[in-house]
Amino acid sequence: MDMKEAIERIIAELNGLKCASQKEVEEARIRFLGKKGEVTALFEEFRAIAPEMKREFGQKLNELKKAATAKIEELKNAAEEKAVENAPRQDLSMPGDALPLGSRHPVSIVRQEIVDIFRKFGYDVAEGPEIEDDWHVFEALNFPPNHPAREMQDTFFVSNGHLNPLLLRTHTSSVQVRTMETHPLPIRVICPGRVFRNEAISARAHCIFHQVEGLYIDKNVSFADLKQAILLFAREMFGPDTQIRMRPSFFPFTEPSAEVDVSCNICKGKGCNICKGTGWLEIMGCGMVDPNVLKASGIDPEVYSGFAFGMGVERIAMLKWQVNDLRHYFENDLRFLSEFATATEV
Ligand code: DAH
Repeated sequence: MDMKEAIERIIAELNGLKCASQKEVEEARIRFLGKKGEVTALFEEFRAIAPEMKREFGQKLNELKKAATAKIEELKNAAEEKAVENAPRQDLSMPGDALPLGSRHPVSIVRQEIVDIFRKFGYDVAEGPEIEDDWHVFEALNFPPNHPAREMQDTFFVSNGHLNPLLLRTHTSSVQVRTMETHPLPIRVICPGRVFRNEAISARAHCIFHQVEGLYIDKNVSFADLKQAILLFAREMFGPDTQIRMRPSFFPFTEPSAEVDVSCNICKGKGCNICKGTGWLEIMGCGMVDPNVLKASGIDPEVYSGFAFGMGVERIAMLKWQVNDLRHYFENDLRFLSEFATATEV
């Protein structure tokens, strides 16, 4: 083939060359400039042409190679730019992935609610150890020596066999003893905390649960003061229409003692399966602090009197949210716990 014609044909082809992708550019480079490419082939042919034509064609061939290289380079850059443009882009204005926030445990929410209500009434918060001694849990609270609550069946003992064994406190009433021993009078405290009992776990009982104990000691404290304090608490906790009633009961550390019921806020007293048709729900025990208890902590019962009350936090939480199985509060199932997320203020 005539070399001149071949050069012109390649130039024309290069001028009209279009590549849609980087792959096509590479194919074009191989076709023209590769080892067996069309331009390379002309250099082979060039060796064989007549010497007088070498000058003219040598120059033409060099220009052709230069032009082909420049064209391929140009197409390569254009294809590269296009590839970048078409690459999937990140939207930098998109909001980030939110980390799931935890929420407070329902028992913590209710405990805090109880604490906040009594704080408003002027009560301080007192805490005590979970591993206690017999004195603070039983003896100073007027438990007779062979009271069944002292037995192994109810109490987890940590050490045994001496006069004042260590044990896991079975109620937060132990903190009222510690407060009476150390706190100047008058006393107005609530004592929230964890308690432990050797009980079989069921829908209504657990070996660990939470209580809030209350204690008020001053001159001339009467049962009427106790009733009023509990009525105010019940209305703050369960709503302004709530009624209370007190039933006579017995606790070693209070005399007289009572159990407190609130009117069922689910059926409004008509009777439902939560209140078992009675219209009332039991929420706590209470009473006037027994003179023996005051004496044991060095307080003169001739001068001072007081009342005490104690409630289970899980029980209040079960009533508040109509949860019918205590175990939900201890199993940490996120499906249950996340139900309370909206009830939490961060
Ligand atoms: N300590 C009692 C219990 O664990 C609850 C209680 C009842 C506390 C009457 C009191 C009270 O202070 O006066 O069952």
